[in-house]
Amino acid sequence: MSRSLALVAGAALAAAVVHASGSEAPALKSLKPAGLRLGVALSQKQSDGEDKAALGLALRHFDQVSPENLLKWERVHPEPERYEFGPADRYVELGRSRGLFVVGHVLVWHQQTPAWVFAGEGGQPIDRATALARLKSHIDAVVGRYRGRIGGWDVVNEALEEDGTLRKTPWRTAIGDDYIARAFALAHAADPTAELYYNDYNLWKPAKRAGALRIVAQLKAQGLRVDGIGEQAHWGIDDPPLAAIDETLAAIRASGTRALITELDMDVLPRDPDMWGADLAKKQKIKAATNVYPQGLPDDVQQRLARRYADVFALFLKHDVGRVTFWGVTDADTWLDDFPIPGRVNHPLLWDRDGREKPAFAAVAEALRQGARR
Ligand code: XIL
Repeated sequence: MSRSLALVAGAALAAAVVHASGSEAPALKSLKPAGLRLGVALSQKQSDGEDKAALGLALRHFDQVSPENLLKWERVHPEPERYEFGPADRYVELGRSRGLFVVGHVLVWHQQTPAWVFAGEGGQPIDRATALARLKSHIDAVVGRYRGRIGGWDVVNEALEEDGTLRKTPWRTAIGDDYIARAFALAHAADPTAELYYNDYNLWKPAKRAGALRIVAQLKAQGLRVDGIGEQAHWGIDDPPLAAIDETLAAIRASGTRALITELDMDVLPRDPDMWGADLAKKQKIKAATNVYPQGLPDDVQQRLARRYADVFALFLKHDVGRVTFWGVTDADTWLDDFPIPGRVNHPLLWDRDGREKPAFAAVAEALRQGARR
C-alpha cells in the first residue's frame, strides 16, 4: 500500500472509530427545543461507570436521566429495616454533577416490590393501617434522602387496567382506591420541590387514557400536586397507530397536565397479540417464530425504524411534550431481548449493540432540528 493510501485508510479508520463512540455526531440535546427534556434510562453498570462507552453516549446526548432499576423498591428497600442506597446515591450524584435533570422511578408499583411489603401478621393479608405506614416510611426515606436532588418522581406506576378501571393491586386491596392520593401527598410532603408524575403504558388506548386523565383530575381536585402524565411508550415499529398517539397527546395537553414520554423504545420484531400473556410453551413457539433478526437489523427495517422514530418525534414536538426518555442507551441494553419473550435479539434504540448510530439516530436528530425551528 502506498504511503498516501495508507494515510487515507488510517484516517478513515480513525473517523469510523470516533464515529462509533458518538463523538462526531451532533449531540441530540444541542438540537432540541429548549422546553423539551431529552433523556435516557441508565443501567447500574452505566451509572457506576463500568459501561463507559454507553455512559459516554448518554452524557453526550441527553440532559436527563432515569434509573432503569436501581430505585425500585426491591433494590432500595429489600427488607423492612434495611435500605440499600449505594447504587442510587451514585446515580443521583452522577446526574447532579453533570447538571442533568435526575428522575426517580418508582415509588408505588405492584412489580419489583418485595413480598414482605404486602405480607400481614401470621400470613394474613396486610391491613390498611400497616400498608399506609409502610408506604409512608418508604416514601419518607427514599424521597427525603434525595430531596432537592431528584427533580421528578414517578409516584404511581401502572395503576390502570386496559379498560381504564383501577387495577387490583395489593396496594389497592390493602388501602383502598385512595392509595394513589396518599402516595402523591406523601411524596409531596417528603420533597415539596420535586415534580410528581403518574406513569402508565398503553395510554394511547382511549379507555386507558381516560382512566389516567380521571386519576389526575381527581388528584388535582384534592389539591394535590401532579406535574406530568407519563406514557411509557414501549411501542412497536408499526403499532400503535400514529393517529392514536396524536389523539392521546392532544387530550393530555388539553387537560392542562404535561404529557411525558418516559420509557421510549420500538420493538422491531413481529408482535404476536398473545405474547404478553402466553405460558412458557407458547412463549417458546412465539420465540421461534419472531426472533427474526438475530444477526442484526436489515437495511430496509433500519429505514422503517428511522421513519417510525421521525413520525413519533414529530408528534412529540407538535404537542409540546415535556420530556422524551429512551429506555436504554444502545441495543445491547434493551430489556426487550427478554420481555415479554425471553432470549430474543431486539433492536429498538438509536445505537446498535456496538454503539454505532443507526439510521434512527439521524432521523431523531433531524426531527429535533425541525422541532426547534418551529
Ligand atoms: C424494566 C427494566 O427495564 C428491566 O430491566 C426489569 O427487569 C423489569 O423492568 N415499565 C416500567 C419499567 O415502568 O420499570 C420497566 O423496566 C419496563 C416496564
